[in-house]
Amino acid sequence: MNRPVRDWRGRRVWIVGASTGIGAALAEALLAAGARVAVSARSAGRLQQRFGEAPQAVLLPLDVTDAGALERTAATLVETWGGIDSAIYVAGDYVPMRAWAIDLAAARRMIDVNLVGAFAFAAAVVPRLLAQAGEMKGQREGLGGEAGRGDIAFVASVAGYRGLPKALAYGPTKAALINFAESLALDLQPSGVGVRLINPGFVATPLTAQNDFAMPALQTPAAAAAAIVAGYRSAAFEIDFPKRFTRFMKLLALLPARLYLPLVRRFAD
Ligand SMILES: NC(=O)c1ccc[n+]([C@@H]2O[C@H](COP(=O)([O-])OP(=O)(O)OC[C@H]3O[C@@H](n4cnc5c(N)ncnc54)[C@H](OP(=O)(O)O)[C@@H]3O)[C@@H](O)[C@H]2O)c1
Repeated sequence: MNRPVRDWRGRRVWIVGASTGIGAALAEALLAAGARVAVSARSAGRLQQRFGEAPQAVLLPLDVTDAGALERTAATLVETWGGIDSAIYVAGDYVPMRAWAIDLAAARRMIDVNLVGAFAFAAAVVPRLLAQAGEMKGQREGLGGEAGRGDIAFVASVAGYRGLPKALAYGPTKAALINFAESLALDLQPSGVGVRLINPGFVATPLTAQNDFAMPALQTPAAAAAAIVAGYRSAAFEIDFPKRFTRFMKLLALLPARLYLPLVRRFAD
């Protein structure tokens, strides 16, 4: 179970993947709620444009495929802030793909950004959250600063629930990320370090702008950010939204493959 977060004032938040879309909107919502927010993404220019004027924002550009950069940035944050309260991995890459046009380079990039980057993020953040939670007493003297139990979150997708058309490479990375977050939660629950899994439905961002199909229950990034902030108010592991879409996807996911595949096949073209 996670500790509900109702008051973001003074909370030290690191968002990776915050230059556009859901991550940028979430950073803006949390800054407005009084949090101190470190924003990371590759594009220093876009971070500057969006957050350069925000006094409570710290701009830390990086590429998630560089595990060393994630480690160094986590160390810098703990040094500067004395700790991290919420670490949120939003970075993601998406290229629609079909079985007859497998693009190995694009698939590798999605695996690197959506999955391996999440591992590197956890490797950089979890030991520090554990240190803060007092689990690694003596081993990490000097880190941690203010004692406090933090949490780590990952933005996966409803596309990770089951196989979907056009998500030949993206879907498996998100399915693996969901599994990874669940395994992390199992390991970390006794320590008090929180783990959250964020599964959005369709959100209008640069990532989905390339979709050539009508996206059901499409939300704005601001609405997605509001749903995430609302989700943190609860202790639940998963934050999924919009409910009218995710409930339907969850129901579909319960079907045996002999029913699921022909049903979803109808939307495949
Ligand atoms: N939009 C949707 O409908 C939807 C639905 C479900 C889940 N999601 C997930 O939500 C997350 C955010 O997506 P979005 O829709 O908001 O897309 P987006 O606007 O394209 O945002 C993606 C973010 O990830 C960053 N990023 C990409 N590659 C990176 C790298 N190698 N290193 C560091 N940062 C990197 C991008 O910044 P730079 O390009 O500056 O690096 C950007 O800030 C993704 O994980 C996506 O899979 C989206």
